[in-house]
Amino acid sequence: MGPSPPSRLLLGLTLFFSLTHATVTVYTPTQVVFTTAPAVSGTPAAYTGVAAYNPGTLSPPPLPSPTVLTNPIPINLQNAGTPGLGVKQKGSFLGFSIEMSVTNQVLGKNSTLLQVPFLNLMANIVQRAGSVMVRVGGNSQESAHLVAMGEILNGRVLSKNLTGVTGTTQTPPLDFTPDLLYMMRNISELVNVHWFLGIPWFTTTPFDLAIVPAATSILGPYPLGLQARNEPDMYNLHGHRPATYGPYGYGGEISDFLTQVGFWCFF
Ligand SMILES: *[C@@H]1O[C@H](CO)[C@@H](O)[C@H](O)[C@H]1NC(C)=O
Ligand SMILES: *[C@@H]1O[C@H](CO)[C@@H](O)[C@H](O)[C@H]1NC(C)=O
Ligand SMILES: *[C@@H]1O[C@H](CO)[C@@H](O)[C@H](O)[C@H]1NC(C)=O
Repeated sequence: MGPSPPSRLLLGLTLFFSLTHATVTVYTPTQVVFTTAPAVSGTPAAYTGVAAYNPGTLSPPPLPSPTVLTNPIPINLQNAGTPGLGVKQKGSFLGFSIEMSVTNQVLGKNSTLLQVPFLNLMANIVQRAGSVMVRVGGNSQESAHLVAMGEILNGRVLSKNLTGVTGTTQTPPLDFTPDLLYMMRNISELVNVHWFLGIPWFTTTPFDLAIVPAATSILGPYPLGLQARNEPDMYNLHGHRPATYGPYGYGGEISDFLTQVGFWCFF
C-alpha cells in the first residue's frame, strides 16, 4: 500500500460495537502465578537436545468415527472470471495488533534499540506482501498519556502505573514519550510497516488528543488511521461509564470529539 499524506489520515470511527472479544494481554509478568506443579504422565522423552531439533515423530491418532472426508475437495480455479469472488484485496490486507503497553517489549526498547526478531518477521512478511499493517492500541490506549521526551527514565518509551490498574483486564494507565513514535517510524523506514494508533477515550471532557499531531508529524507517510476508542461495549462492565451507556452515548461522544478536533465528517 502506498503512503498516505497526513491530510488524508483516515479517522476510523467505529460505529459498531464488537460482539466478540477474545484477546488476552499479560501486562506484567507478576500476573502469571503458578500454584501447582504440572502433572506428569507417560514416559519422559529420551531426547535431551534443543527442542527445535528433536527428531521424534508423533503417531497420528486414529480417524474419528463416523469418519471425515479424506479425499481432496476439487476447486476449479480460473485465471479470470471466477464466479462468486469477492472484492480483490492487496497481499497486505491482513494485519495484526499489538497492545500499546507491551510495545516496548515487542517493537524495541526505544528508537535506537529495535527488536531484531520483530524486524525479521516484518521483513519476511514484506517480502511476500509488500508492506504490513500493524495496529498499536487496545485497552491501554484508553488512558495513554503523551509526556515529554526524556521524562521517563533510562531511555524508556513508556511506563505503566501499576497502582492505577482498572477493569477485569487490570489495564494500567500508561505514560509514553514521543520516542515510542520515533521507534515506530524507524521500524517503518527499515521494513515498510504502516500503523494504526488509538485515541484515548476514557476522559472526554476534553479528549486528550496529543497523540494525533504527534503521530501525524513523527510517522510521516506511515500512519494509516486513528481509532477513536477501543471497546466501548465493555466500558460499563469495566467501570468507565454508567450502565445506561450504549450506542447513543457513544454517538454523543463522537459528536463532542468531532467538535473538539474541528472536523466535518459524513457517516
Ligand atoms: C535507548 O536505550 C539505550 C539503552 O538504555 C540508551 O543508551 C539510548 O540512549 C536510548 N535511546 C533513546 C533515543 O532514548
Ligand atoms: C497511578 O494511579 C493512581 C490511581 O488512579 C493515582 O492515584 C496515581 O496518582 C497514579 N500515579 C501516577 C504516577 O500517575
Ligand atoms: C531512530 O530514530 C532516532 C530518533 O529520531 C534517530 O536519531 C536514529 O537515527 C534512528 N535510527 C535508525 C536506525 O533509523
